[in-house]
Parts: sequence; C-alpha cells; structure tokens
Amino acid sequence: MGDPRLLKNATLVDVAEISSPKIQQIIQDLLETMKSANGAGLAAPQIGVDLQIVVFGFEKSVRYPDADPVPQTIIINPVITPLSFELEEGWEGCLSVPGLRGIVPRYQKIRYQGLNEQGEIIDRKVSGFHARVVQHECDHLHGYLFPMRVKDFTRFGFTEVLFPDLG
Ligand code: NI
Repeated sequence: MGDPRLLKNATLVDVAEISSPKIQQIIQDLLETMKSANGAGLAAPQIGVDLQIVVFGFEKSVRYPDADPVPQTIIINPVITPLSFELEEGWEGCLSVPGLRGIVPRYQKIRYQGLNEQGEIIDRKVSGFHARVVQHECDHLHGYLFPMRVKDFTRFGFTEVLFPDLG
C-alpha cells in the first residue's frame, strides 16, 4: 500500500498475446505468489505488472478459514456486472495491505466475464465469498485497495488483534 502502481487503471491484455511466454509467465508468477502467501487471490498490479490479470481460488484458505471453496481461476480483462443492488458485509484483508482487516460491503451477487489463460471465455454468476474475492481482485485493476471501501472504521484493524487465531 502506498506504491503508485496500485492506484492505476491497469492496461488491457492484448488477446492475441495471451498464449505468449511473457503472459504465461506472469500467470505462473501470480499463481505461485498467491499460493506461497496463502492468498485467496492476487492481481497483476500487486506484483508490479500493469495488466488486467487476476488469479484466485482455494480449496481451504488459511487466511479465510470460514470461507467456502472457490475454484482456482485465472481471468484476463475481467468485467463485473452486479446482479442485484443487495450488498453484503464481510471481512477482507489483502497481501498488499499486510496485517490489516476490515469490513467491506460488496455486491452479494455478480456476473463476471473475461478470458482464461487459454483465451477461452469465462462467464459465471456467483455469490457470497466467491463474489467478494472477484470484486476485491478486480478492484486492484482499477486502483482500489480494500481500505478505500471500508465505511465503518470501528471494524478495521490489525489482524492479530481482530483474529488472534489467524496468527
Ligand atoms: Ni488485495
């Protein structure tokens, strides 16, 4: 947090370049970085890459032990459409905002579309934590970090104080 690269609109990926070694390497770096940090997701600007690529997904999350599994997904040039105005509050953290958690309102139900690592269309309707992760990661492509979405700062603080069991 504080790095200007996290505050920009990221550049769209040229679809003809998805299969290139450069893009495939970025995707591998994102997946490895996410896994080694036990993250629920990661966006390219978080590793200093100015492109619209996000990865997310886990079977069981160390950082979010109560969350239902989310399928491992790579999505390029994602677009989100809220499917209702209903908002849901939930705790979020971020690998770019280490040691902090806050309650963030997000759309409960969304549709997201984009391309996968093979250039195939992804088009899903999701809700709950899956929808939250997608909104959080796509925010990274538009210069938003979760603290900018926090409305109630009485529910924002240090992970080790709020969730001592997470260590
Ligand atoms: Ni994040």
